[in-house]
Amino acid sequence: MRNRLARIFKHGDNRTVMLAVDHGYFQGPTTKLENPKRTIEPLLPYADSIMLTRGVLRNCVDASNDIPIVLRVSGGVSILKQDLSNEDITTSIEEALRLNASALALSIFVGEEHEHRTLVNLARLVDEAERYGVPVLAVTAVGREMARDARYLALACRIAAELGARIVKTYYCENFDRVVDSCPVPLVIAGGKKVPEYEALKLTYNAIKNGAAGVDMGRNIWQSDHPVAMIRAVRAIVHDNATADDAWQLFNELKTNENREVLINQ
Ligand code: 5RP
Repeated sequence: MRNRLARIFKHGDNRTVMLAVDHGYFQGPTTKLENPKRTIEPLLPYADSIMLTRGVLRNCVDASNDIPIVLRVSGGVSILKQDLSNEDITTSIEEALRLNASALALSIFVGEEHEHRTLVNLARLVDEAERYGVPVLAVTAVGREMARDARYLALACRIAAELGARIVKTYYCENFDRVVDSCPVPLVIAGGKKVPEYEALKLTYNAIKNGAAGVDMGRNIWQSDHPVAMIRAVRAIVHDNATADDAWQLFNELKTNENREVLINQ
């Protein structure tokens, strides 16, 4: 267990940059993730771990790559249905071990129709995974009607930790320090819908400043026109204590160099 967690939090600062590319499990070919291999490959050198399903892992990530795998093991829904909380466990523990997962990820839907099932699924998954020393990351998924405020997110994160999650993924919100303070395990934040790069960097900075252990970020990295520059800028905040302004400057420098290289190679 400690070795697996150390692979995810591997920089000695107890922080991590997790690259989330699991969106297809209910969204299908999401914009800029239509061809996962093409999106993922250039970003891998800058991610501490990658969160994805077994299908994308098998087909789109070279097995020789040593990146720690955070395997999404819940699903069974699509964006075409209203009841997104109707998830179950979709991958067995044996399969996860065979795929050499460093952690397993499952969504819980607190306050949603299928709250009970997703919470019991989390507890069952924790029981199975702990037997083999595999940490479980709980994703506090937020339904369409739920507010993303500190009161609600603190409730969802605390329940996830109480049921045995070793890492909790949530959203940044005002008074985020309250969410961190009441959750006894590390919190990583999702980026959410794509926003302008500077805003996403500010969100990352505020989350880290208020106690997040890192990010599990997807769209705000790979939906950027400069995804490598973006993940490197996010990384500078998480691991090098860069401010949002430092990271923005880095993003712009890397973007300019990238554009120059494209011109030279034309
Ligand atoms: C979906 C997920 C995603 O991985 C999560 O939302 C992170 O990605 P993004 O930064 O794009 O929000 O868990 O349930």
